[in-house]
Amino acid sequence: MAVSATLAAHQVVEERRRAGLPVLPMSFGQAGVPVHPLLLEALAEAGGRNGYGPVAGDPALREAAAGYWTRRGLPTEPEQVLAGPGSKALLYASLHAIGGNVVLPRPSWVSYAQQAALLGHESRQVLIHPDEGGVPNAGLVPPDARAMVMTLPDNPTGRIASADTVRAACEEARDKDLVIVSDEIYRDLRYDDEFVSPAQFAPERTIVTTGLSKSLALGGWRIGVARFPEGPLFDRALTVAGELWSCPTVPVQAAAALGFAEPDPLKSYVDKARRLYQRINLAVTDRFTTAGAVVAKPQAAFYSYPDLSQLVEGAAPEIARRLLEEHGLALLPGTAFGEAPDSLRFRVATGQLTGETDEQRREALESADPLALPWIAGALDRLTEILGAL
Ligand SMILES: Cc1ncc(COP(=O)(O)O)c(C=O)c1O
Repeated sequence: MAVSATLAAHQVVEERRRAGLPVLPMSFGQAGVPVHPLLLEALAEAGGRNGYGPVAGDPALREAAAGYWTRRGLPTEPEQVLAGPGSKALLYASLHAIGGNVVLPRPSWVSYAQQAALLGHESRQVLIHPDEGGVPNAGLVPPDARAMVMTLPDNPTGRIASADTVRAACEEARDKDLVIVSDEIYRDLRYDDEFVSPAQFAPERTIVTTGLSKSLALGGWRIGVARFPEGPLFDRALTVAGELWSCPTVPVQAAAALGFAEPDPLKSYVDKARRLYQRINLAVTDRFTTAGAVVAKPQAAFYSYPDLSQLVEGAAPEIARRLLEEHGLALLPGTAFGEAPDSLRFRVATGQLTGETDEQRREALESADPLALPWIAGALDRLTEILGAL
């Protein structure tokens, strides 16, 4: 099994940087704002807590996460919450707990299919509705699956499936007795308020995962939470937690409890970050559209998914390699997300364009006109140049 496609592309970008070559780093789905000082304080204060904690997570974190979901219309008890070292680990524990073949949207985030394979399960990708993202088309779900993954909002497309689509997929899951895993890590980075979780339509069979890697840019701190429905799934996932990570990093949990409690300064920080991502992401999408690409307008976070078939010819992985080697433009080909080899869709990740240093990122966050900052304007101009040269 190959190294995760996103991590591999990130490595190439870093190598080019070290060699002093120009890069437009748009392959790695990393958030681009500094850690909020309140979180740094909370982490430092808890630094002395060096003993193992409870496997399911610190009571304070489980309670804060329960409150986070309850405020979003999903009443949650702390006992339903499992914390882990990132939502990726919790997705793995969830797929293990469900224990069977997995239905995924096509395209979908790189790790679901790989995790299913690691667990010895088959995964089948099912086409999404055109211009939506993250939810398998209900009519195409195979009969032998046990789990259905949804990504809301979606990576790679940057789109949010409609309430009707989510409802239909939930009904299908109920008919076929599937457990839904709803990956909602980008929920707080959507550009407007509309959002439905499958946990509203099918609460009895939906596991929801989220984390602070995107909204508060804490990817490297490795912390996530999952919300389980009633029944045996929680205990099965807890077994994975106990045997693989024992407990999430204790000091990080203290900071994460604060993150999920959402005091006003953190809430407005997430709002500011979201507005910044939105400005940059929509500007990048515009550049692609102007160059002749076909792209559905992103609705969340820092991704878009243009179709470049009007601009380039050949196989997508080869084109991605050429864009990186000849122009320093790092994109991921749709094939990394399960697209057919003849698809010329590419995932564009714009979270890193906020700046290269914390100082630049802070300035971008505070700026009334971030697109005019030299490093962001420069990246946009360079993108226009590269696309113009294709
Ligand atoms: C759709 C999706 N789910 C989950 C993750 C993993 O997040 P975490 O850092 O919580 O493991 C990512 C990160 O790129 C993601 O894009």
